[in-house]
Amino acid sequence: MAHNIAVIVGSLRKDSFNRKLAKAVMGVAPASLHMSFVEIGDLTPFSQDLEANPPASWVAFREQIKPVAGVLFATPEYNRSIPGVLKNAIDIGSRPYGQSVWGGKPVAIISGGFGATGGFGANHHLRQVLAYLDMPTMGQPEAYIGGIGDMFDEHGAIKNPKTTEFLAKFAEAFAAWVDTHVKA
Ligand code: FNR
Repeated sequence: MAHNIAVIVGSLRKDSFNRKLAKAVMGVAPASLHMSFVEIGDLTPFSQDLEANPPASWVAFREQIKPVAGVLFATPEYNRSIPGVLKNAIDIGSRPYGQSVWGGKPVAIISGGFGATGGFGANHHLRQVLAYLDMPTMGQPEAYIGGIGDMFDEHGAIKNPKTTEFLAKFAEAFAAWVDTHVKA
């Protein structure tokens, strides 16, 4: 069964390695996953004061997330956690209270960093947030992608075929996870 999936990148950097990772996953994902980026860079910073009269950027973001079956997060680690821009987007989608756009949507996380830990801290802080938001989060395979600085060629393609093979397995597992957990 085909499913629309929102792909959210936790970096706003133009040449983000995590965006390249997300694109690589999208390139090898099974045909059942229709994956599209949902951008978070223009979201007005969250303030409860704006909840009664939400900015257009919040409304548009919520409307983009509501209809999708699942979400893929691709994120760097900032100071051993998730970047503020990503938390901002998640908070915006979680409100008004009782009207979260996230609840029940199956999700997978891929994190990338220069070092060997591959964004482990961000990946697991994000899991804590998603547990509260009631999003079934894929456990295996885990995707902490280290060494992202050397991973891509000048066209943004992954150099090592074994990495692509791993991402294909990750995407395949996610497709099965979505099939199992998608809301009826
Ligand atoms: C970082 N970076 C980083 N890396 C890491 O492995 N653990 C960390 O805690 C941090 N902390 C951190 C804080 C801040 C404010 C910045 C800007 C960067 C390095 C970061 O992972 C690296 O810049 C990645 O390239 C960012 O991902 P994108 O933008 O390439 O997707």
